[in-house]
Parts: sequence; C-alpha cells; structure tokens
Amino acid sequence: MPAWGAVSFEKEILPFLNKKCVDCHRAPYEENGRKKEPKAGLRLDASWAILKGSENGPVLTPGAPDKSAIYESVTLPKDDDAHMPPKGDDLTAEEIAVLKKWIEEGADFGGWIGSKDGMPADAQTATTKAVKPREHDLLFAALEKEVKPLSDDALAKAKTAGAQVAAVKVESPLVRVDFLTGVSKCDDAKVESILPLKENIVQLDLGRTIITDAALKSVAQLPRLLSLDLRQTKVTDAGLEALKGHKRLQTINLYGTEVTDAGIKHLAGIKTLKNVYLWQSKATKAGVKQLTAALPGVKVSFE
Ligand code: HEC
Repeated sequence: MPAWGAVSFEKEILPFLNKKCVDCHRAPYEENGRKKEPKAGLRLDASWAILKGSENGPVLTPGAPDKSAIYESVTLPKDDDAHMPPKGDDLTAEEIAVLKKWIEEGADFGGWIGSKDGMPADAQTATTKAVKPREHDLLFAALEKEVKPLSDDALAKAKTAGAQVAAVKVESPLVRVDFLTGVSKCDDAKVESILPLKENIVQLDLGRTIITDAALKSVAQLPRLLSLDLRQTKVTDAGLEALKGHKRLQTINLYGTEVTDAGIKHLAGIKTLKNVYLWQSKATKAGVKQLTAALPGVKVSFE
C-alpha cells in the first residue's frame, strides 16, 4: 500500500497511465495518413486535459474516487463495455489502490503538466499552482516530533488482529492503518486491538468493514488521527458523538452510511475538520448548510 499523503503522481500514477491508457487517450496524431482522435475525446497525457475530461464531461473529482470515471472505469467488471482498458493489461490491484488514494488526497499533479499540445492559454496556471509544499508533509513533520517509534510488540498485536500498518513516509513513526485484506472480519474488537498504536496513527481506513458505533469509542482515543474513512459501514449518528471533541481530525468519509443531520451536528465541534464526505448518506442540504456555517472553510462533498 502506498503511504498516505505521499502519492506522487509522476512516480506512482503516470507510469501505468502511460503504459496502459495513453495509447488510446492522447493528443490527435496521424497514422498512415489518417488522423487519430483520442477515444471518447478524453486525453490522459496532460494534467490540464485530465482535468478537462471527456466529450461527456469531467472524469476526475478530486477527493471522490467514486465520482471519478477515471477510477470507476478501471474497477468495473471486465465484461462491462465501459471497463478500462478495453484491451491489453488491466491495472493491477496495487495500481488501482494508488489511483484511489491519489484521488482521495485531492488529485495533486505535483506540478506535472505533460503534453502541451492543444493546451489552452489559461490552463497552465491552473495546473502549476499545486507545487507548493504539501500541507500534509508540514503537518507530519510537526507531529513526528511528538511521537516515539512503534514498539515491535504493539505492531505484532495489530498485525495479529488483521491490521495493515504502514509508515506514512520512509522512517516516519506516523502510520496509516487499514484492514483492506479482511474488511469483512474487521469488527469493533479488531479496532480496539489497534489501541496500542494509538499515539502513532494518523490515518485509519475502516471503510466497508463490519464495525458499529462502538468502534468509534476506540477511534476517539487516537489523538493524532487526521483522516478517518468510515464509508459503507453501519456507523450512525450516535457513534459520531464519540468524535465530537476530537482535536486534530481533518477528513472524515461517511459515504454510503446512515448518518443524518443529527449526526453531522456532532462534527461541528471538530474545529480542525476540512473535508467531509457525505455522498449517499442520509444527511440533507439543510444539515450540510449548518455544518458549513459552524465550520467555515470545511469542504463538504454531498450529492
Ligand atoms: C484500446 C484503447 C483504449 C485503452 C488502452 C484505454 N481506453 Fe479508455 N476508452 C476507450 C474507448 C473506445 C472509450 C469509449 C468507450 C465508450 O464510449 O463506450 C474509452 C472511454 C474511457 C473513459 C470514459 C470517458 C467518458 O466520459 O465517456 C474513461 C474514463 C477512460 N476511457 C479511461 C481509461 C483509462 C484510465 C485507461 C487506462 C487504464 C484507458 N481508458 C485505456 C479506449 C481505450
């Protein structure tokens, strides 16, 4: 698994796009005297072109892989007409995972432009402004000073519980934890069993696991947690109450949960919150409006 907050577009994404996608999705060119256009009008050979999308509209929604055709198309069953690539090697599970992470993190091209063929004059500014030092890196540097490296014992216990633990970057004591190899076995007790690592966890992915509200009592004890993925779990409004006073949480994903406006009220107390994903939850426009009023600057993905 790639480290969270550290997906490099050029190192980790571009190589497989070039190898498996760009043949059919590139600037128009001539072959044997015939002009070849990119399939579906979609070019994947430049950041500005990826942001522009296809003849049918945008294919990338930063922060929301589930709303990004560039991600959805590679996860469709092979016999689906819209499965990408339609021929040649499929993306590997790892490539799909890193693509997803990259989109979740905000789809930062890190200054990469790619082909300038056909680039509109105003496109460059839009894609190069992303070169500023990544906010996460600065935050990690500050948090790293506060924590000790993980003990082998704590690590072994978490692994026995089925957790995958990975440093957020090389030699960092900060870790991301997921249960991706056994989501259907990850219950409240499993989440409790990662508490020996609680000082070090900055990202926790519990998406699609079988946890309930009780697990959020454990989650609330992670003082440096920055990002929490609860998508498609059974967590409800009652569970979110446990997170009410969290001091660091920035991102919470509640996509496809039963959470309502009553639940997101609890989030209003988390002053550090920046991104809330509520797509396909039971929250309403009115609830979202209250949340953004309480936390100016929060970005809510909804509908
Ligand atoms: C062999 C040629 C080929 C390759 C390789 C290929 N595609 Fe496509 N792609 C197509 C064609 C053809 C369509 C149009 C399909 C349709 O309209 O049913 C398409 C459509 C798409 C669309 C939908 C665009 C829209 O909005 O309609 C996306 C997204 C896409 N491709 C992404 C990718 C990605 C990502 C890769 C690499 C993993 C890839 N493609 C590799 C031929 C290709």
